[in-house]
Amino acid sequence: MQPRHFTSLLDLSSAELRDLIHRATELKNLRDADFQPLKGKVLAMVFEKSSTRTRISFEAGMAQFGGSAIFLSPRDTQLGRGEPVEDSARVISSMVDCIMLRTHAHETVTTFARYSRVPVINGLSDLLHPCQLLADMQTYFEHRGNIAGKTVTWIGDGNNMCHSYINAARQFDFKLNIACPQDYRPLPSIVDPAHDRVAFFNSPEQAAEGSDLIVTDVWASMGQEEEQKKREFAFRDFQVTSKVMQAAHSEALFMHCLPAHRGEEVEAAVIDGPQSVVFPEAENRLHAQKALLEFLICR
Ligand code: CP
Ligand code: NVA
Repeated sequence: MQPRHFTSLLDLSSAELRDLIHRATELKNLRDADFQPLKGKVLAMVFEKSSTRTRISFEAGMAQFGGSAIFLSPRDTQLGRGEPVEDSARVISSMVDCIMLRTHAHETVTTFARYSRVPVINGLSDLLHPCQLLADMQTYFEHRGNIAGKTVTWIGDGNNMCHSYINAARQFDFKLNIACPQDYRPLPSIVDPAHDRVAFFNSPEQAAEGSDLIVTDVWASMGQEEEQKKREFAFRDFQVTSKVMQAAHSEALFMHCLPAHRGEEVEAAVIDGPQSVVFPEAENRLHAQKALLEFLICR
């Protein structure tokens, strides 16, 4: 049987994603230490970039399910010394039950998936961060119910998180307003297939008007550290402030995948305020990915 992969939200059907979100909440409430569907199973985790949430949630999730996880960094493996991705995928997938990768180039994830005999999960690439969206959708469902028909506003960089929000708008059926500087828009290849869901704005306040969820992310992603100063200037009018939150629906939530920079992309009063759900959102990485691992490995 061909393995299923999760390189993008588009790898699963809309119905499968919804089931996964519900299963994540079910697992969160289960609290049964004897439920170990991944007993004896091994997850390999390849990290080209830093991580707190992704590493811990996958590692803890595997342990709670009775399995184990191996942390691999390019510094310690032959991948970092130029062994071809195709060969690495064949070798690693012959020894483990699932592979999670956090990479620079998205192509590394898709090449791994092509040559792997076990499921491959994208734990963030320069293009997409689909695991984060599972947690974000779970968090919205838990706090406000179905997101279908709602309006979400993305403020800031048209980056991997923004791209995954665009894919989520298609899969979970919501409207996405994007407030973003002209030079930092998301890629047309991601936007075009979602053109009926996505609208662009120059002003964060206008984009937030009547919105049910406000989301942002860092101005300089991993790998863009040398652009920090230039980006601080370019994004100076794209901060999530209390004024932006006031333009949104009074019941609107605030999300951020973290790590956050208070005083840059978000005001401290917002991220530490009553509409913020960033910590339940972070915790849900664990539950959502346990549902994902169960779905991919126990088929
Ligand atoms: N949100 C997220 O992916 O966090 P980490 O970079 O800490 O894994
Ligand atoms: N856009 C950010 C997300 C971090 C979780 C980055 O790629 O660094």
